[in-house]
Amino acid sequence: MLNFSFCSPTYFEFGKGTESTAGALVKRFGGTKILLHYGGGSIKKSGLYDRVVASLKESGVAFAELGGAQPNPVSSLVYEGIELCRKENVDFILAVGGGSAIDSAKAIAAGAVYDGDFWDFFSGKGVEKALPVGVILTIAAAGSEGSPNSVITNEKTNEKRGCGGECLRPVFSILNPELTQTLPAYQTAAGSTDIIVHVLERYFSNTKEVEITDRICEAVLKTIIYETPRALENPDNYEARANILWAGMIAHNNLCGVGREQDWASHGMAHGPSAFFDATHGAALAVVCPAWMKLVSKANPFKFEQFAERVWDTKGADAGIAAFEKFLKAIGMPSSLKEFGAAEADIPKLVKHVGVGDDKTFGSYVKLNASDVTEIYKLAM
Ligand code: NZQ
Ligand code: ZN
Repeated sequence: MLNFSFCSPTYFEFGKGTESTAGALVKRFGGTKILLHYGGGSIKKSGLYDRVVASLKESGVAFAELGGAQPNPVSSLVYEGIELCRKENVDFILAVGGGSAIDSAKAIAAGAVYDGDFWDFFSGKGVEKALPVGVILTIAAAGSEGSPNSVITNEKTNEKRGCGGECLRPVFSILNPELTQTLPAYQTAAGSTDIIVHVLERYFSNTKEVEITDRICEAVLKTIIYETPRALENPDNYEARANILWAGMIAHNNLCGVGREQDWASHGMAHGPSAFFDATHGAALAVVCPAWMKLVSKANPFKFEQFAERVWDTKGADAGIAAFEKFLKAIGMPSSLKEFGAAEADIPKLVKHVGVGDDKTFGSYVKLNASDVTEIYKLAM
């Protein structure tokens, strides 16, 4: 096991009806004038918006609001949010929604206290200061409710990039599984896929003998594999939703990654299809990750044997990968980049988006160069 630092200070309020604590939690974490930030309207349709506003009013928290964070959230709304925070003297941001609303809120939080262009943070500059962010989560997927990251698309340049900084971990996150019962099946499945791949990016590591972390990973994977079909079959299944929701947080606050090298090649290759074809993040991973597995398992089979045996109760790398693909198909995920509208001719621009060259590799389980990435996209076509 490698040396590591781990600090995951988010306060979690988990369970039925917990959104009613939003106002009190904002106050407890120092918010006096907040920006209420959300997505495209699901929270109004479900009645969640009204309950959150009632809770804020009850606690005497003043707020400005900005909706419209779209899946694969974009930079133009972040600029708008930054302006609004400055104009309204906002000191806290409450994101209500999924990874997109949360990531947009985090980018606004960093940009509002920065003199330069917030996009600097998505071009390699670390985030050291941001307004505090609180979360009410409505989908189990991205793990942004406990992560120090934000992912934003610059719609002018078609770049989807991430940034990170410990100050971006939400100060609190409210996780009510009931809120996820209104999710469309496709979003439930894409969310579960994202959760699985957050674990796999950390599980496929060359660092040996990190048994505790491996076993936590396998517990999260097994839980998602068991609970996702149950949630799809009966969207109101509270217990299935609850297990998936908590698994999604554990998958990405880095509990599954400490003490070893991590890979992240599948995520690096999934952002291009989202940037160019607006592919849902989890769906892009469902296509790219098995293609990555097929290529790298030949070069480095060691962890794939364990994956097959402990996660899928089968033997051999190929059988493990096949079982994973069968699961993805059964929950309704796509299996080809063509399903997003991509064609073979798009491969060079996807490779360029990854930012890999013959002398610049990425990934760590197997180091990939531009021709490996091209091969993986071909397999994913
Ligand atoms: O916008 P609304 O109307 O709310 O609709 C959303 C959206 O259309 C809908 N939805 C969410 N909760 C719902 C609901 N519909 C009905 N009932 C509910 N309870 O679902 C759609 C997807 O929402 P979104 O927020 O985009 O989903 P997700 O949580 O998967 O977030 C995806 C984004 O997170 C990024 C992804 O790249 C992508 O941009 N990620 C962020 C990470 C991080 N910050 O740590 C890590 C991840 O790897 C990922 O990259
Ligand atoms: Zn992800």
